[in-house]
Amino acid sequence: MSNNKKHSPIIIAMTGASGAPYALRLIQRLAKKDIQLHLLISDAARVVLEQESNFKLTSNLDEMAKDIAGFTGVDAQYLTCWGNKDWMSPVASGSADMQDMVVVPCSMGSLARIATGASSNLIERATDVMLKERKNLILVPRETPLSEIHLGHMYNLSKMGVRIIPAMPGFYHEPKSIDDLVDFMVDRIMDHLGVNDGSNIRWGA
Ligand SMILES: Cc1cc2nc3c(=O)[nH]c(=O)nc-3n(C[C@H](O)[C@H](O)[C@H](O)COP(=O)(O)O)c2cc1C
Repeated sequence: MSNNKKHSPIIIAMTGASGAPYALRLIQRLAKKDIQLHLLISDAARVVLEQESNFKLTSNLDEMAKDIAGFTGVDAQYLTCWGNKDWMSPVASGSADMQDMVVVPCSMGSLARIATGASSNLIERATDVMLKERKNLILVPRETPLSEIHLGHMYNLSKMGVRIIPAMPGFYHEPKSIDDLVDFMVDRIMDHLGVNDGSNIRWGA
């Protein structure tokens, strides 16, 4: 995608796997690229977020957007938060102009429900829409070790065109901080969203 063309809104779902900092950093970098973001946060993701980033979310969706904006240092106008049962949200419909969705981090529970089309909450419904509309769905799963159940779901989703980008940062760029490791993963996600903010670490560059 050309850097001059405005990217269509992106859906970012956070689920209850370890790795909340990846999502917060992705939100920060995409909003700074003038991209509107629809945020979906599972109940388990709230628990993990508090554990990993010491950041407690309110349940009021407008306040939540402001809090995330404040925490990440972006303008709240870029963020729209939706509840788990907000079936009237545009992200629940294939007719909305949503070309890309990232589930980051993606728990094994959400992975299983996405792979089987459970659609029992807005995150699963939105991923189901991305699948049926053949849109760009990116999952950032995190678990170790992986069982045959986990691997099977990832394999089936990959065969459907889903981009599986496991939260497995490399070390060949000689990271000096946790932020460097987080950015390594966010770089890879942004590559697959076709968004370049000029700071992606590239081998041989
Ligand atoms: C601190 C913490 C860390 C967790 N880490 C993981 C993880 O890395 N991967 C995973 O699949 N589940 C992890 N879980 C468990 C999930 O949160 C749990 O399975 C939950 O039901 C997932 O729900 P969700 O998919 O609706 O977000 C973790 C839970 C907590 C509280």
